[in-house]
Amino acid sequence: MDVATLAWRMLRSLPPLYAWRLLHSARAEVLDEAARVLGRPPAPGGLSRTFLGYTLEHPVGIAAGLDKDASMVWLAWSMGAGFHVVGSVLPHPYEGVEPKILVRLPSGGTVNRLGLPSKGPRVAYERLRVHKPPGMPIAVNIASFTAKGYGELYRLFSGVASWVEINISCPNVEDHRTFEDPDMVREICRYMKPLRAPALLKIPPTRDESVLARYLEASLDCGFSGIVAGNTMRIMYNGVPAGLGGPSLFETTLFMVRRLRSLAPRGFALVGVGGVDSGYRAKTLLDAGADLVEVMSAVIHRGPFAPWLVARELSQLL
Ligand SMILES: Cc1cc2nc3c(=O)[nH]c(=O)nc-3n(C[C@H](O)[C@H](O)[C@H](O)COP(=O)(O)O)c2cc1C
Repeated sequence: MDVATLAWRMLRSLPPLYAWRLLHSARAEVLDEAARVLGRPPAPGGLSRTFLGYTLEHPVGIAAGLDKDASMVWLAWSMGAGFHVVGSVLPHPYEGVEPKILVRLPSGGTVNRLGLPSKGPRVAYERLRVHKPPGMPIAVNIASFTAKGYGELYRLFSGVASWVEINISCPNVEDHRTFEDPDMVREICRYMKPLRAPALLKIPPTRDESVLARYLEASLDCGFSGIVAGNTMRIMYNGVPAGLGGPSLFETTLFMVRRLRSLAPRGFALVGVGGVDSGYRAKTLLDAGADLVEVMSAVIHRGPFAPWLVARELSQLL
C-alpha cells in the first residue's frame, strides 16, 4: 500500500469534522510541502483542454471548502486534481459558526455547517505567491459579509489566482439582504472594477429559469468570464441550518448547466458542481455544456484522489 492510500485510510477512519480540523491545523502546511515528493499520477488520456488560457490535464477539480487557506495545494497536485479551488477566503480571519457539523451520509452525500471559517486573505495569499504546482491551475473562491470586502479580496487574489470564484452564498451584514440576488451581484462587481483576472460567479442551486437568466445577465453586465453552477442546498439538520452536498443535487446541477449553456453567449465559461461522483456524471455535465466540473462530497467519501478517479473513469468512457 502506498503512503497516500495509507494516509487516506487513517483519515477516513476519523469522524469527518475531526479529519477536516486536522487538515486545517497549523501542521497541514508542513505536510502539504511533503506531499510534493509524492509526485503526480499520470494524466488520464484524452482529456487535456484549455480553460481561460490555462492548460489542464483533465477537467475535474476540487471544489471550494476542502482547502480554505491554500494549505493543501501540493496535496491536490499529488492527488492528480485537474485544477484546485482554494477558499472560501474571507477579508478577515473568521472562526465560522458553532456548532460545526460535517457528516457523511450513507447516500454518498454530505451535510456541512462550518460557516465559512477562514484564516484571512494574507495566509492564503502568501502560500499562493510561493507555491505554484506545475500543470494545475489554482482558483481562489472569495466570500464576504460586505460588497466592499469582495472588491478587496478580488484585487488581492487577481495577482496570484488563475481565476477567482465569487461565492455569493453568505450573509450580507450591511443591509441584511442576501448576496444571493442578481442585483447584489451588480453591487459587488462595482467594487471589483477594473477586472484583472477572470471572475466566475458561483451561484446556489436553483431550478428557477428566470433566476438563472438574471444571474447570467448580471454576470455579463459585470464582465465576468463565467458561472460556477451551483453550491450546497440549504436544509435544516438537527434543528440548525446546514448545507447538503452530493448525489441528490446532481439533477439540479444538470438543469442549471443545460439552461445556462442554452442562454449564454459563445465562449462564456461554465463549471458544474453538485453531485458529481463518477466519470459518468462528469461526462453528463460536460455533454450538457459544462467546460469543467468540480467535486467535493466525493472527496469526503472517496478520498483526495476522487477528482483523478472521476477523470480516469471519464477517460475510459470516451
Ligand atoms: C465541508 C464543505 C465545505 C464547503 N465550503 C465551501 C466554501 O467555503 N465555499 C464555497 O463556495 N463552497 C463550499 N462548499 C460547497 C462545495 O464547494 C460544493 O459547491 C458543494 O458541496 C456541492 O458539491 P458536491 O455535491 O460535490 O459536494 C463546501 C462544501 C462542503 C461539503
